[in-house]
Amino acid sequence: MENLISLVNKIQRACTALGDHGEGSALPTLWDALPAIAVVGGQSSGKSSVLESIVGKDFLPRGSGIVTRRPLVLQLHKAEEGSREYAEFLHLPRKRFTDFAAVRKEIQDETDRETGRTKQISSVPIHLSIYSPSVVNLTLIDLPGLTKVAVEGQPESVVQDIENMVRSYIEKPNCLILAISPANQDLATSDAIKISREVDPTGERTFGVLTKIDLMDKGTDAVDILEGKQYRLKYPWIGVVNRSQADINKNVDMIAARRREQEYFANSPEYKHFAHRMGSEHLAKMLSKHLETVIKSKIPGIQSLINKTVAELEAELSRLGKPIAADAGGKLYAIMEICRSFDQIFKEHLDGVRPGGDKI
Ligand code: GDP
Ligand code: NA
Ligand code: MG
Repeated sequence: MENLISLVNKIQRACTALGDHGEGSALPTLWDALPAIAVVGGQSSGKSSVLESIVGKDFLPRGSGIVTRRPLVLQLHKAEEGSREYAEFLHLPRKRFTDFAAVRKEIQDETDRETGRTKQISSVPIHLSIYSPSVVNLTLIDLPGLTKVAVEGQPESVVQDIENMVRSYIEKPNCLILAISPANQDLATSDAIKISREVDPTGERTFGVLTKIDLMDKGTDAVDILEGKQYRLKYPWIGVVNRSQADINKNVDMIAARRREQEYFANSPEYKHFAHRMGSEHLAKMLSKHLETVIKSKIPGIQSLINKTVAELEAELSRLGKPIAADAGGKLYAIMEICRSFDQIFKEHLDGVRPGGDKI
C-alpha cells in the first residue's frame, strides 16, 4: 500500500508551500490535524543528537549552548533500495543536497537569515525533507531547547518565548511528543517531563527518551527509569547513547555510533535483559509504526477536513478569478489535486476503520 505517512507528508508540504495563500482558509487547520512528532527537552539534553541517530545521518547543528533557534520540520521519506539519498529544503525547492555537511551549513545559514547571527530565536520553521533507502517514514520536529535564564544577547523574554513556542506544537492533540531527558540529571528536574505532563497528563502521546546514560555517576544506573518505576508513561521508556562531543569532534560516524550503542546496552549487566528495546534504531522503528497507527485512526476526521478544504479552495479560486492570481491560483490548484488524490487513497484504506470513528 502507498505509505500513509508519506501521503501526510505531501499534504504538509503542500500546505506549507501555500504559505500566506493558506491564510483564512481551512489549510492551517488541516496542517494542525496531521500527526507529527515533536522533540522537546532542556537545552543540550540531546534532542538534535536523538534526531540525527533516528535518521542515521550527520546533518544537524549540535553542541553546547543554544544551537537550535528555529523549529525544524523534518520529513523522512523511505526511498527505493539502491537509490541515492538526498535532502531538499522547502525554501530551496530545486536544489538537491547530497552532501549532508552542506545541509547542516544551510540550516545554520537559514537560521541566521531569520534571526541574524545572534542567540535570538524565531518561531518560523525551516522545512527539510530527506529521501533515503535507510530511513523510516516519519515527520519529526526539532525545537529550541527549554532554558531557565536568558544569556548574553537574548531578550529577557526568551525563556518564556521558547516555552510558548514548544507548547504551541505539543498542545495539539495530534502531536506525538518525544520527551528527551538526560540521565545525568535527576528526572524530577526534567524540562521535557514537566511540559509534556502539562499538555498530556495521562502520557498517552508522550514517548520518554533517556539520553546520556553513558554519562551517569559511577554506581548509579537508569534501570528504574527505563522500567517506568520513576515516571510512568503509557509507552515504555527508551534509553539511548548518542555520540559525545569528543566523538563528534573525532568524526565518529553514525553507523559506528549505532553499533557501539547497541553493544553498550547488550554488554551492560544492568541493561542487557531489555537491550532489544533500547537504542536509536528501535526508537525509529517504534515511532514509525506508532505514527502510522495514529494516522490510520484519524483517517475519517482528516478526510472530512480535506473535503472541506477542497470546497473552500474552490470557492477561493472562483473569488480570485483567473487573470488575477496566476501564482496563488496555481498553488491552490496544486494542493487541491493533492487533496483529491489523498482522499482517493484514504478511501482505499478505509477498510477496517469505522467511518466517523476517531475524531480529530
Ligand atoms: P540539544 O541542545 O538538546 O539539541 O542537544 P545536542 O544534541 O546538541 O547535544 C548536546 C551535547 O550533548 C552535544 O555535545 C552532544 O554530543 C552531547 N550528547 C548528547 N547525547 C549524548 C549521549 O547520549 N552521550 C554523550 N556522551 N553525549 C551526548
Ligand atoms: Na544544544
Ligand atoms: Mg538542538
